[in-house]
Amino acid sequence: MLKNKKIMFAKTILITGSNRGIGLELVKLLAGQCEHLFAACRSPQDATDLNSIAEENKNIVVIKIDVTDQFTIDAAKEVVQNTVGEKGLNCLINNAGVLKTGENSINDVTAESMKSVYEVNTVGPAMVIKTFLPLIKQASSQVEGDGMNTARASILNMSSKVASMDDNKSGRAYSYRMSKIALNMLTKNLSIELKPDRILAVNLHPGWVQTDMGGPNALISSETSAKRLLETAAMFTEKDNALFYSWDGELIPW
Ligand SMILES: NC(=O)c1ccc[n+]([C@@H]2O[C@H](COP(=O)([O-])OP(=O)(O)OC[C@H]3O[C@@H](n4cnc5c(N)ncnc54)[C@H](OP(=O)(O)O)[C@@H]3O)[C@@H](O)[C@H]2O)c1
Repeated sequence: MLKNKKIMFAKTILITGSNRGIGLELVKLLAGQCEHLFAACRSPQDATDLNSIAEENKNIVVIKIDVTDQFTIDAAKEVVQNTVGEKGLNCLINNAGVLKTGENSINDVTAESMKSVYEVNTVGPAMVIKTFLPLIKQASSQVEGDGMNTARASILNMSSKVASMDDNKSGRAYSYRMSKIALNMLTKNLSIELKPDRILAVNLHPGWVQTDMGGPNALISSETSAKRLLETAAMFTEKDNALFYSWDGELIPW
């Protein structure tokens, strides 16, 4: 397991939505696998669990990012830049997300609910990526050769299998499905634009996970999901650019 192997996942990592759920588990696992781990959340002052992990792991820096608030994204970039210097940022994990429940019919959907979900799940990651891209390019430029991998430079977007056209047999969850499929297209575009910079862009599906979002009946724990996600992502190379991977390493059709 990754926790016992002491693989260097990436030297410098940023995770959004890291105060609970899958994000918090990723922080626990990655704390020992990197030099600097930037654990972003909306309210650092209330992030009790995250703050206690950070107290035990001095390489964790808890920073404020609300993905819908550019001011917080810019301020976080300053902190990251001042900490990593020339090393740059190797891996950005866009994990923060929201689900609007109860959208079983188009009649349940409002413009307001759709826009608010899209703002967090799609626009937010795009703005976080745009802001941190100079630091990711900097990290990639530090490595010689053309090889692409997660440790060199990568953007990992937490999507969902429900964003798969092919997998959609039951409809519903309008705003969530639409926002995540748009996120997938963001990943695809980035995979093309950033290939010359040797930066990977990959979509991830964490499974149906027991978190506030997934609920208590979900199939796997956040610990299992996070462990397997990291084991899967640690192996990504150029051939995986733009692909859509499940937590267990299976490829998900678009
Ligand atoms: N759980 C599942 O079964 C499942 C399945 C497929 C995909 N996913 C995806 O996996 C990711 C993590 O899900 P999860 O199950 O861990 O969800 P969760 O337990 O509900 O946690 C969501 C996280 O996103 C943060 N967040 C929400 N809005 C934000 C904003 N505007 N700015 C910054 N952070 C924000 C939350 O912060 P606050 O505490 O401040 O609200 C929280 O840290 C999401 O992208 C989700 O769509 C989950």
